[in-house]
Amino acid sequence: MEMKAFQVLSVLLLSAAVTDAQSFHVGKCPEPSVQEGFNVTQYTGTWYEIEKLPAMFERGKCNQATYSLLSDGTVSVHNEELLANGKINSIDGVAKVKDPSQPAILGVSFFKGVPDAPYWVLSTDYQSYSLVYSCADYFGLFHIDFAWILARTCVLTEGVISQLHDKLSAAGVNVNRLTGSDQTGCDGHGLRHRK
Ligand SMILES: *[C@@H]1O[C@H](CO)[C@@H](O)[C@H](O)[C@H]1NC(C)=O
Repeated sequence: MEMKAFQVLSVLLLSAAVTDAQSFHVGKCPEPSVQEGFNVTQYTGTWYEIEKLPAMFERGKCNQATYSLLSDGTVSVHNEELLANGKINSIDGVAKVKDPSQPAILGVSFFKGVPDAPYWVLSTDYQSYSLVYSCADYFGLFHIDFAWILARTCVLTEGVISQLHDKLSAAGVNVNRLTGSDQTGCDGHGLRHRK
């Protein structure tokens, strides 16, 4: 039970926005298809959050994630967001591929000893967009899921967004629950990796 509680915490922290309302569903997690031949080296660098699921309460804006390859083959995760008071909120974690035959399925942990939260790369071209899904099963009875549409720049074309929505829909995710992330007025606040 205690480990499950940690797992929930870990999932909640995945977006560095603890106050995001989580999304409960009856039944087990869907198992969407993931990016074939995923190459984590090409995935490193900064990604900007374009849309997410769910975000009934936005804590900050200008959300971004920066991934760097570590010497042991794991990936460092640095998430940042700009709070309303102008301060930057950040959190660091480590992502790893557990099964080399499934490289697009990672686990992210923000605290030592805490079970990983799932990080599934459903689709990415490495250069412009990424679709990430995270779902955790609880007692075989219900699941909590999260999704993010990320981009290398602060905007994505409607065409790309619409394709990614189709992928999420095919996975059984209700895309009407996705909300747009605010990436306006983000410059000049000292966000570390912003170009
Ligand atoms: C992954 O991408 C890097 C950088 O482009 C490349 O050097 C490496 O060979 C790729 N790995 C595989 C397994 O394709």
